[in-house]
Amino acid sequence: MYYKILLLFLLCGCGSTPYGAQEIIENNEQVTRITYPVTDHTDINDQILEKVQACRNSFSLNSQERQFSYIQYIEEDTISFLFTCYEYNITSQFTYDALTYNTKTGEEYSIQELTGTNEIPSQDNSFYYDQDTIYIPYGDTIKTYPRNNAISIPIIKVDGKSDNEVENTRPKIALTFDDGPNARYTPKILEILEKYNVEATFFVIGQQIKSHENVIKEMISDGHQIGIHTFTHRDLTKLRDKEILEEISLTKDVLNDMGYTANTVRPPYGSYNDHIVKLVKEPLVLWTIDTRDWESKDSKKIVSVVKSKVRGGDIILFHDMYESTVEAVRVLVPYLIDEGYDLVSVEKLIANCTVYCVKE
Ligand code: NI
Repeated sequence: MYYKILLLFLLCGCGSTPYGAQEIIENNEQVTRITYPVTDHTDINDQILEKVQACRNSFSLNSQERQFSYIQYIEEDTISFLFTCYEYNITSQFTYDALTYNTKTGEEYSIQELTGTNEIPSQDNSFYYDQDTIYIPYGDTIKTYPRNNAISIPIIKVDGKSDNEVENTRPKIALTFDDGPNARYTPKILEILEKYNVEATFFVIGQQIKSHENVIKEMISDGHQIGIHTFTHRDLTKLRDKEILEEISLTKDVLNDMGYTANTVRPPYGSYNDHIVKLVKEPLVLWTIDTRDWESKDSKKIVSVVKSKVRGGDIILFHDMYESTVEAVRVLVPYLIDEGYDLVSVEKLIANCTVYCVKE
């Protein structure tokens, strides 16, 4: 997957510069061209100037040609820059860097916000994206990923508002719980949800259902949505077609036996590909906020992740496997209600969502 993108970025000069700065220094032996964007945000400009300076500092004395250039991609309120630092000194040398930010707030935009998952690693959240691709610079190479929004199935776009918000009613969010049912923690979560009379979605592991039938029955009678998190929690991208379909149908069958029809799938690890999307007939539901509760096991951290990120239309990922998650949910449910959100199942979140959410 690693490959250099050389001429494309160096020569295209395609960064139509809306408000750029340029400097060209030529003498007999050497030409230096520095072109960089100037934005409306001081912090962003400082960061860009640092990158320019780092590039200048890297030039060797005797290189014949030196260049700092950039291309940009604009989408809605976001501008993404890919910077190329280049010099020719017997051989061509390239270094890449990137910066993506929100033009309204001046804040850096994260890959997680773009994709809805933590699946794509990056250094210092440095990335560039365009319509189809996400580019992660690693020094002299760029790693690329197809830009298939993880949350795009079945929601192509959740931009933070549900259409209800447009009509001035309460914005919706969906709490989702993976990897259960769990004998100890799931009932505690069900109790909190019942106390506040709100709904959630539980993506359960099929092989755990039989030994926790009472918990599942309670979910059903309380009106929660149950989704399929496969039968044995395996990474679907590593399985053959037959196994993928079995992972889903086995879980579906156990739930059917209990009188419940599950119609959504959350792939374990958020791991999927285009082939799986086509193969599996149920929509794959990912998330827009990952609380990383399994990692921190710290209720305060879980609460603060949600508080700092939540907007209408969000699908929030928890695991009903930890006391810290239960404690966080105990704080978050009344908080979110007070903040004016309607806590609903994923099914209801995406129903009637026609203004801002486009269903596939
Ligand atoms: Ni899981």
